[in-house]
Amino acid sequence: MRYIEIKDADKIIYSSPYVVKNPSQNKNKWASVFGNNNPIHLELGMGRGEMLVKLAEKNPKINYIGLELYPSQMVSATKNLSSKNLKNIKLICADAANLLDFFGKEIDTIYLTFSEPWPKEQDKKRRFTHENYLKLYDRIFKKNKHIILKTDNKGLFAYSLETLSQYWYSFDRVSLDLHHDEKPIPNVMTDFETQYYKEGRPIYYVDASFKG
Ligand SMILES: C[S@@+](CC[C@H](N)C(=O)[O-])C[C@H]1O[C@@H](n2cnc3c(N)ncnc32)[C@H](O)[C@@H]1O
Repeated sequence: MRYIEIKDADKIIYSSPYVVKNPSQNKNKWASVFGNNNPIHLELGMGRGEMLVKLAEKNPKINYIGLELYPSQMVSATKNLSSKNLKNIKLICADAANLLDFFGKEIDTIYLTFSEPWPKEQDKKRRFTHENYLKLYDRIFKKNKHIILKTDNKGLFAYSLETLSQYWYSFDRVSLDLHHDEKPIPNVMTDFETQYYKEGRPIYYVDASFKG
């Protein structure tokens, strides 16, 4: 997917107190960064960070970290946060493939929201639910594993259910149409989700966990 480039995006994001400049220095120290032992929820590929900022406002007893590859994508989140005074959210500009540089066994929940589907077979290692990523997640989950995944892409969803179940996750909640499920699922929309919802596209959802 191609995203709009914003001039001086780097400068803009790194002038925000919410963006962590050297995240590897915080490895195994995120509890002291937040100043408490509250659970830490991490979103990979947060884009404009709309869901994460809303969740942080709604749940002050949960700490949120948003990780995003492109500075331009993060500009909107830093602007949105500039008028707020939230102690429970931090942002990292980095490649999710380098997760182990930033986190020890500190994470309670991982959000994978509208991740790139990488439909070609040759690119499947880039999918955030490829076995290689699931192995990385194993090394950063505190105790139990917990992944919440939302996507509009049926292929990625089917693939993810398969890899997650091969990796012993069980599914606490699955929906093939999150916004019209018979039993409503608590949900905060992401930026992409808002667009897809308006277009009437079904959103696939799974809440998967493995209790160790
Ligand atoms: C389709 S967008 C979804 C953004 C957001 N989660 C949402 O639902 O609105 C996918 C995002 O993942 C980011 N991304 C892709 N590969 C990544 C990687 N390896 N590490 C971190 N972010 C990545 C992209 O830059 C993009 O912002």
